[in-house]
Amino acid sequence: NEDVVILSIETSCDETACSIVRNGNDILANVVVSQIESHKRFGGVVPEVASRHHVETITVVIEQALETSGLMPENLSAVAVTEGPGLIGALLVGINAAKAFSFAHDLPLIPVHHIAGHIYANQLEEEINFPLISLIVSGGHTELIYMKDHLSFEVIGETRDDAVGEAYDKVARVIGLPYPGGPHIDRLSTEGKDSFNFPRAYLEPGSYDFSFSGLKSAVINTLHNHRQKDLEVKDEDVARSFQESVIDVLTKKTMQAVTEYDVENLIIAGGVAANRGLRTRFETLCQDQNIKLSVPALKYCTDNAAMIGAVAYHLYKHKAFGDLDLNGRNYIDI
Ligand code: KG4
Ligand code: ZN
Repeated sequence: NEDVVILSIETSCDETACSIVRNGNDILANVVVSQIESHKRFGGVVPEVASRHHVETITVVIEQALETSGLMPENLSAVAVTEGPGLIGALLVGINAAKAFSFAHDLPLIPVHHIAGHIYANQLEEEINFPLISLIVSGGHTELIYMKDHLSFEVIGETRDDAVGEAYDKVARVIGLPYPGGPHIDRLSTEGKDSFNFPRAYLEPGSYDFSFSGLKSAVINTLHNHRQKDLEVKDEDVARSFQESVIDVLTKKTMQAVTEYDVENLIIAGGVAANRGLRTRFETLCQDQNIKLSVPALKYCTDNAAMIGAVAYHLYKHKAFGDLDLNGRNYIDI
């Protein structure tokens, strides 16, 4: 029973990350270089800018991870990389680095799904228990996933338009908050009241799908109308009203799935899982219903490579290896 030590790479969006994880949960190195400062002035991630930054930084983060861990490439069992979904040019930088590393050091190459990574971020600190329901809420994704066992992903609901994080960032932009706006709205909303009572899009009864574009438009229209008429509008009330609507819908559908699929473990993952309001509401609901709630530490909610290493450990045991013709994919089923 030898240790499995995997070097993993994540470049799907605006973080250049490399991590070394032993046996799926022992983090020997975790290097994350964020490009947020470069994208801020554009109010969002610019794909070409992201790719160029990844090219500049990828070898640096790999060397740093090796140095931190004190390991040499020959001590590694495999190299893992996010194959998608994500920005294609950004993904390809990580994938090409992983291929080169794999070829140069004769290591198996393990392609990993980005969303699986977000889910397995929960495995870095404690065991997850199956069957489980996982709510993934990030800048690019809003999904409810049922897992019977390791590596078994059944998507039971997803967004029909905007991802939650995307709605957060767009609303924040209209309020006048810096990019990415999620954390700012989260903070502002603690000082505000749910005075606007924005719509809650529950969709058809029994549906686990989501829709946030109506809410986004309602917030933006309200702000424009108030500003046009020179009416006073408190940003913190807008933030709170928006956040309450989001939390109501996310928690209602998720707890419904928890009951229908009869699971004992609920996992929240992705950048928006860092949201204080959302975490607190889920904590209360899960306590009331005796459900184990798993939420990653804040630094493992947003993009990182340790979460990719956590999935890769299980893929390694199944010898789910990729070839050197591995390609990036911006849309890919989990
Ligand atoms: O998972 P992530 O780092 O990247 C993607 O894969 O998309 O998620 C980034 C998203 C951004 O939209 C950001 O605004 C949002 O997560 N976010 C938050 C919070 N922290 C990050 N949204 C709401 N509340 C937060 N505290
Ligand atoms: Zn992500």
